[in-house]
Amino acid sequence: MVKTAASVAVKGLRAWYGGVEALRGVDLEVGAGEIVAIIGPAQAGKSTLMSCLSRLSDEVVGLRVEGSVAVGGEDVFAMRDVAALRRRVGLVAPLPVGLPMSVIDNVTYAPRMAGARKGPELRERAEKCLRAAALWDEVKDRLDQTATRLSGGQQQRLAIARALSHEPEVLCLDEFSIAIDPVTTARIEELLKAMRSQVTIVLVTNLIHQARRLADHTAMMWEGRVIEVQPTAAFFDSPQHELTRGYLEGRFG
Ligand SMILES: Nc1ncnc2c1ncn2[C@@H]1O[C@H](COP(=O)(O)OP(=O)(O)OP(=O)(O)O)[C@@H](O)[C@H]1O
Ligand SMILES: [Mg+2]
Repeated sequence: MVKTAASVAVKGLRAWYGGVEALRGVDLEVGAGEIVAIIGPAQAGKSTLMSCLSRLSDEVVGLRVEGSVAVGGEDVFAMRDVAALRRRVGLVAPLPVGLPMSVIDNVTYAPRMAGARKGPELRERAEKCLRAAALWDEVKDRLDQTATRLSGGQQQRLAIARALSHEPEVLCLDEFSIAIDPVTTARIEELLKAMRSQVTIVLVTNLIHQARRLADHTAMMWEGRVIEVQPTAAFFDSPQHELTRGYLEGRFG
């Protein structure tokens, strides 16, 4: 379902919404096939950083970006084919909605656009993506119903399935468990773990336990910068930065 994982390298990334400086020089390196968790308080710039990785930032009126992002060593801001970039770098937003088409069309859209014909093979691919997003059992009897009628949590998982249908090299999940119950969250976490090494995962989460369970490295964002990155165990057991310590102890943020 996934091709090859790609590394991600962010250097000196700055972003402004009009006069508001949301990113103030972000540096972050993620190895191919790694899972990195990004934590940090509201407005730290986590979602803005995620939107830059697939250049969704292009679509935001008034947003200006400087610095560099490389995926698999290729300069993202220099790429001409942005649609191709967005297949390589999938982004699942915190509260995504299904495309107004059937469940099956949602997850076969990408391969169909790439020329795949409807048939058993395409259906098999769809099933794989829906299974990987822990959604198959709930939708297998309603594949032809419109996706907008799924529950919030189901639409969240459909967005994950749809991102996977593009066979991404990098999967960015921005607070994916926000609308999902703990049991489903745990199932998706298992599936993400199983995908480790096949796809690079950048995970914005404020669930400390989720970061601990999943991430190889954890990064702390604060006021538009990554102020600390460490292997996950070290990050939580002996944070180096005073702000990270304070945040983890619940003193601020
Ligand atoms: N579309 C927008 N227009 C204007 N300002 C924005 C926009 N999106 C974000 N910002 C501003 O950019 C800064 C960073 O926001 P961002 O959403 O990246 O933070 P975040 O870390 O994801 O926060 P949260 O934890 O609340 O999701 C904030 O000051 C925010 O108000
Ligand atoms: Mg956010």
